[in-house]
Order: sequence, then C-alpha cells, then structure tokens
Amino acid sequence: MTSITGPCDANHRSPTESQLFKSIAQFCAQLAPGVRRRKINLFKDIEHLVRLAVVMAVALVAFVSLRALVVPHSFGQYGHYRGAAIAEIAARPAAFAGHDVCEACHTDVVDQKKQGKHVVVPCEACHGAQAKHADDPASVKPAKLDTAVVCARCHEANSAKPKAFPQVATADHSGGLACDTCHQPHRPKIEDTPPATERKK
Ligand code: HEC
Ligand code: HEC
Ligand code: HEC
Ligand code: HEC
Repeated sequence: MTSITGPCDANHRSPTESQLFKSIAQFCAQLAPGVRRRKINLFKDIEHLVRLAVVMAVALVAFVSLRALVVPHSFGQYGHYRGAAIAEIAARPAAFAGHDVCEACHTDVVDQKKQGKHVVVPCEACHGAQAKHADDPASVKPAKLDTAVVCARCHEANSAKPKAFPQVATADHSGGLACDTCHQPHRPKIEDTPPATERKK
C-alpha cells in the first residue's frame, strides 16, 4: 500500500468520492456526537451499502412499474381475479340448451326415455352441446353419433366404477356391431324394447 500514485485516497476513493464520504461522516458525527470515536469504523465501507440500496431501489421501481403495466385493469375489483372476466364470460353464447328445451320439441324421445334407466341421462350428455340446433333446428342438425365411442364413455368396464353400474367390455360384448343395433339408445334395456316393427326409428 505504499506506492499509490493515482489520485485515490487510502480507501481507493477518487477525490470526489472521498469528499462525499467525508461529508457523510461529518453529518453522522453531528447526528450522534457520542459515537465520534467509532464513526470511522461504522461508516468506513458505507459505499457498499449505498450501492446495494441503489440496486434495490432500481429493482423496486422496475417491479412496481412493470406490475402496473402487465396486471389487467380490473384485477382485484372483486377478489384475486380479473373483475371484467365475469362480464366477458356471461356475454358468450351458451353452448348447451339444457334438456328441458330439447324435451319441448322431441316429446317422442322423452316418452321412450322415461321408460328406461336412461331417464337420468340428459340429452346433451350423448348428443353434445346443441344450443345452436335448438335455436334453429331446420338448418343446424346434430351430427350422427358413433355409439362405439359415446356408449363406451360411460359403460366401458373399469374396476374403478361402482359394481352396481352396468358395464361391459364393449369390444367383446358388441362383437363389433354398433350398440344401437341391439339397444335402443333412449331406452337401452333389451327386454324393454318393443319389437323392431313397432319401433320408431
Ligand atoms: C324447436 C324445436 C327443437 C328443439 C328445441 C330441439 N330440436 Fe332436435 N330436432 C328438431 C327437428 C324439427 C328435427 C328434425 C330435423 C330434420 O330432420 O330436418 C330435429 C332433429 C334432431 C336430431 C336428429 C338429427 C338427425 O340426424 O335426424 C337430434 C339428435 C336432435 N334433434 C337432438 C336435439 C337435442 C339434443 C335438443 C336439445 C338441445 C334438441 N334436439 C332440441 C327440433 C328441435
Ligand atoms: C344415452 C345416450 C343418449 C341420450 C341420453 C339421448 N340420446 Fe338421442 N340418440 C342417441 C343415439 C346413439 C342415437 C342414434 C344415433 C344418432 O342418431 O346419432 C340417438 C338418436 C336420436 C334422434 C334421432 C332418431 C331417433 O332415434 O329418434 C333424436 C331426435 C334424438 N336422439 C333426440 C334425443 C333427445 C331429445 C334426447 C333427450 C330427451 C336424447 N336424444 C337423449 C343417444 C342418446
Ligand atoms: C352419460 C353416461 C351414459 C351414456 C353415454 C350411456 N349410458 Fe347407458 N346408462 C347410464 C346410466 C346412468 C344408466 C343407469 C344405471 C343404473 O341405474 O344403474 C345406464 C343404463 C344402461 C343400461 C342398463 C339398462 C337397464 O335397464 O338395466 C344399458 C343396457 C345401457 N345403459 C346402454 C347404453 C348404450 C347402448 C349407450 C349408447 C347409446 C349408453 N348406454 C350410453 C349412463 C350412460
Ligand atoms: C348383438 C346385440 C348387442 C350389441 C351389439 C350390444 N349389446 Fe349390450 N347387451 C345385449 C344384451 C342381449 C344384453 C343383456 C340384456 C340387457 O341387459 O339389456 C346387453 C346388456 C348390456 C348392458 C347391461 C349390462 C349389465 O350388467 O346390466 C350394457 C351396459 C350394454 N349392454 C352396453 C352395450 C354397449 C355399450 C354396446 C356397444 C359397444 C352394446 N351393449 C352392444 C346385446 C347387445
């Protein structure tokens, strides 16, 4: 430490820095004259704290301004979510009509359904969301169902299902035929189903 030739002081501070820390030390001495002798030890390396404080202040400002920028306007209006989302979702057209609506037009299907255990299964659980068809039946027709997919969704045998629920290993059980070759979908028990000649298909 003997041959420092530059303008730095013994703490490697430039003259302006050195001046700054001297005045900080003086200021502190005025605030607390009692600790005068220890002041040099206390504030010797204060520039590290100042740098840290500056970095944290910059980070805080960046966080606050970025947050203000990216958090949606209505966030927190009612709770910990975007308040405007409620109006947006409510404004979407409903995809499901509800089975009461289907039943108003398809009374024959309802009569069939009432006679079997599928009475508890709503129309759109099998036929899918049909609000568009219900609004305009002439131009929007529900797609034909693939029974191998639709029926298996509920009836494929699975040991996790309640034992009392009717289930079959569909591939073996149907022998590859469509389920509605034998079962009338709206009234599935076979002994319930009237002979094919009486059936309205
Ligand atoms: C306003 C009366 C009306 C309502 C409500 C209605 N439908 Fe229909 N639906 C019809 C008519 C009429 C047809 C026959 C259309 C044709 O054959 O051109 C039809 C046909 C169908 C068909 C057979 C399509 C085919 O392949 O021939 C299905 C399945 C069906 N509706 C399901 C539903 C479901 C499920 C609902 C409830 C979400 C529903 N319908 C609500 C009048 C209605
Ligand atoms: C368990 C599943 C299931 C339920 C529940 C169901 N359907 Fe069906 N439905 C079918 C299948 C399978 C067919 C025959 C394949 C096809 O037409 O897509 C069919 C056919 C139809 C047809 C066309 C011809 C026919 O057989 O009468 C209409 C109309 C229809 N369903 C209306 C309804 C309505 C209305 C409801 C509710 C009251 C309903 N379905 C409930 C599975 C179901
Ligand atoms: C959304 C689920 C669901 C779908 C899809 C479904 N079912 Fe069912 N099925 C049921 C329920 C619920 C019962 C009544 C179970 C009970 O009461 O124990 C039932 C009962 C049955 C039964 C027993 C009837 C009886 O009286 O013992 C048969 C057979 C059946 N379904 C065949 C079918 C066929 C064929 C299809 C396809 C056209 C089908 N199911 C689609 C839910 C479904
Ligand atoms: C070749 C005719 C035939 C075909 C095709 C068929 N089944 Fe069956 N199924 C029967 C007969 C017969 C019974 C016994 C009588 C009854 O319960 O209705 C039965 C019974 C059932 C049962 C009741 C089982 C129980 O434990 O009570 C379910 C569920 C069932 N079938 C679902 C289906 C499904 C899903 C398909 C399509 C993948 C299908 N079946 C295809 C003839 C058939």
